[in-house]
Amino acid sequence: MKIENIIPYDLVIFGAKGDLSCRKLIPALYRLELQNLLHINTRIIGVGRADWNNNHYSSIVLQALKKFHSDSIDINIWNTFKNKLYFYNLDVTKIDNFIHLKYTLNQSKNTKIYYFAVPPNKFNNICEGLGKIQYNTQPNRIIVEKPIGVSLKSSQIINKQLNKYFHENQIFRIDHYLGKETILNLLTLRFANPIFHNIWNNTAIKYVKITVSETIGIENRWAYFDSIGQTKDMVQNHLLQILSLITMSVPKKLDAYHIRKQKIEVLKSLRKIDSKNIYTHTLRGQYSSGMINGNIVPSYIEENGAKKDSDMETFVLIKANIDNTTWSGVPFFLKTGKRMHTKKTEIVIYLKNIPNSIFMNHINNNYANKLRIILEPNEGIEIEFLNKKPDINNKYILKKSKLNFQYSDITKDKIADAYERLLFESMKNDQSLFVSKEEIETSWEWIDSIIHAWKTNKIKIQLYPSGTKGLYFSKKN
Ligand code: BG6
Repeated sequence: MKIENIIPYDLVIFGAKGDLSCRKLIPALYRLELQNLLHINTRIIGVGRADWNNNHYSSIVLQALKKFHSDSIDINIWNTFKNKLYFYNLDVTKIDNFIHLKYTLNQSKNTKIYYFAVPPNKFNNICEGLGKIQYNTQPNRIIVEKPIGVSLKSSQIINKQLNKYFHENQIFRIDHYLGKETILNLLTLRFANPIFHNIWNNTAIKYVKITVSETIGIENRWAYFDSIGQTKDMVQNHLLQILSLITMSVPKKLDAYHIRKQKIEVLKSLRKIDSKNIYTHTLRGQYSSGMINGNIVPSYIEENGAKKDSDMETFVLIKANIDNTTWSGVPFFLKTGKRMHTKKTEIVIYLKNIPNSIFMNHINNNYANKLRIILEPNEGIEIEFLNKKPDINNKYILKKSKLNFQYSDITKDKIADAYERLLFESMKNDQSLFVSKEEIETSWEWIDSIIHAWKTNKIKIQLYPSGTKGLYFSKKN
């Protein structure tokens, strides 16, 4: 965006004291400032239950930056940024007190962007409060964080509450994976390149693996995590979003309406997993103790505050099928877990071998071609293919080779962080990187059925040692 097109906003962060705000939002806003993408009249208004004045809030923000911004703080940039900071003490459950917030909001004509960095049980209070002071009107908008519910029913309740005060075009539901550069590149990769576009279907693709593995455990989030588990925390949102981006049909335009429409189509075509196929299509695991980066780490049930008999999954592997013409017969393996051997996010596409290939004996059961899209770490794309080994004695000794592309080859600039991009997109009023109500509810419907089948069939978790690759389906599957 051209600097002259940047307009000022009031960014009102509810939950300004919280972890999300300090760890993600403040560093992201500072990076926007660094790039001169925040208008001089932009105000960042932290709202929370603390007896702070603006100066005190500035010192908290500086501490957060020192801790969570990866580089040193530029003093000139900080001085400009600091002038944008305000703090407002408010208990959002006291609706009558919003009237005082109104005075602060009135001090500028800026469009308001409200960030709900609070648990969903506070969403309704904030909506009601903003409604009461009539600050919920267009073009003001809200950004809401996951989890948007823990089931279809609870997500519908939350969406209803939001819709009572805000129109859909004012609601920006964040899935931070959609702000990652490499996720965004999936559309370019698929729809700008015939080399990929023309093979992107079940005639060429055998199966696909989407892996999001983390080495961290639950990081003192026991109460939250144990009430939700890995499937609701990661699959319902991040993995299903990745799946929908790699399988959706080409949208008519690259705008929110058309992209979301195609994503919903694939989400609706996901084959239901219920008691009939729960044993063959899912595995749920929980980490036991083990070694990560040379350190011994405790098991899930030995974590701080743990319930010793918890049956919650920290790992899940799901074999998903999309019942449409393009993807029929192609399994998609969705795998995600905590305390695994490495932190990585990748999509691997395995291509079918050439039928009756004259090289069949050389390939055995392996796949000749594999496309690896690496989202993290070292963002890049890798193509694996077979090559003749140069040798005068043997005409056809085949060897696997790799074509390797890394983002670092084309830019020395830092790749924008997900929150930085998404905050900026919300200022541009572009919803295409945000999740629609229908996508969220359709995803929950699919997940609900899995969780229900686990419960009714009393499917127990299986333990996997920390620092490993988790669980695998047996070959029969
Ligand atoms: C969050 C989950 O949405 O994503 C966390 O709640 C998880 O449990 C995190 O650790 C992973 O995000 P990233 O960007 O580090 O892959």
